This record gives sequence, structure tokens and C-alpha cells, in this order.
Amino acid sequence: MKVLVLNGPNLRRLGTREPSVYGADTFDDLVKLCEETGSALGLDVEVRQTDDEAELVRWMHEAADGRIPVVLNPAAFTHYSYSLRDAIAQRTAPLVEVHISNPAAREEFRHTSVVAGVATGTIAGFGLRSYVLALQAIAELARS
Ligand code: DQA
Repeated sequence: MKVLVLNGPNLRRLGTREPSVYGADTFDDLVKLCEETGSALGLDVEVRQTDDEAELVRWMHEAADGRIPVVLNPAAFTHYSYSLRDAIAQRTAPLVEVHISNPAAREEFRHTSVVAGVATGTIAGFGLRSYVLALQAIAELARS
């Protein structure tokens, strides 16, 4: 089963971006972790990143049309992108919202997720392990 792991703005800069918040691992490390986790779970994982809201919306349309499960870190779009929320609302397969940090324990503006209400569920605060847990959740949902 194919799974898209989609990442929003600034996440390609993992490793150099605020390592005290997001850790020292790079985006390439994240790609490797997701691909290895996918292989172990029997999932065909494709990892993408964009800084462009319109591109992320189009990827959500692709997932909806293809009935493809998604692991999504919307990054800052989490907190204000109604176009992304509306695109996720069209989903036809599970979508797990993930965050590396725990937004609820950070600045006030991060406490709101406009996408959480249209996601299947949310995993936050476990570093890159958040993605591993999300892929496990997708694999379990596919089995049930
Ligand atoms: C993030 C949390 C967001 O608040 C932030 O804008 C990000 C990363 C995370 O993974 O912890 O870019 O989604």
C-alpha cells in the first residue's frame, strides 16, 4: 500500500533549523527513517516537502483522488491554512497529522490546529519518532 509522507514549510531545513526544538537529524535522515519504517511495515512510502501552500493543497487532492493514506506535518500551515484544511476534508483515506515538537507546550499561536478537526488523529512531541508512530497507525488502520 502506498503512503504519502508530506511536509510543509521549513522542514527541509531540519538539522540546521532550531536544533534545540527540532533536533540534529536532517531531512534526509527523516526520509531514510520513513522509508525504512515503511519497508518494515510493508508500506510503499514516498516522502515529499514543500514550502508552497498551493503545492501541498494539490498533493492533498492527489491523495484524495488516489485514496492514498497520508502522514502530514503541515508545519506552520497547521495554525492558519484554511485552504489546506478544506483539502484535507476531502480525504478518502486515513490522514495522521504529525509534529516533531509538541505545539501545545509552545507559543500560544501554535496551540491552534486548523487541520486537526479533519485529520484521523494527531501525533506530536516525539521528535522524528512521531512519523514512525504515525506510519504504524496507518499500517494498523489498513489491517483493521
Ligand atoms: C511543527 C510545529 C509547528 O508549529 C511549526 O510551525 C513547524 C514544525 C513540528 O513539527 O513540530 O514548522 O509542525
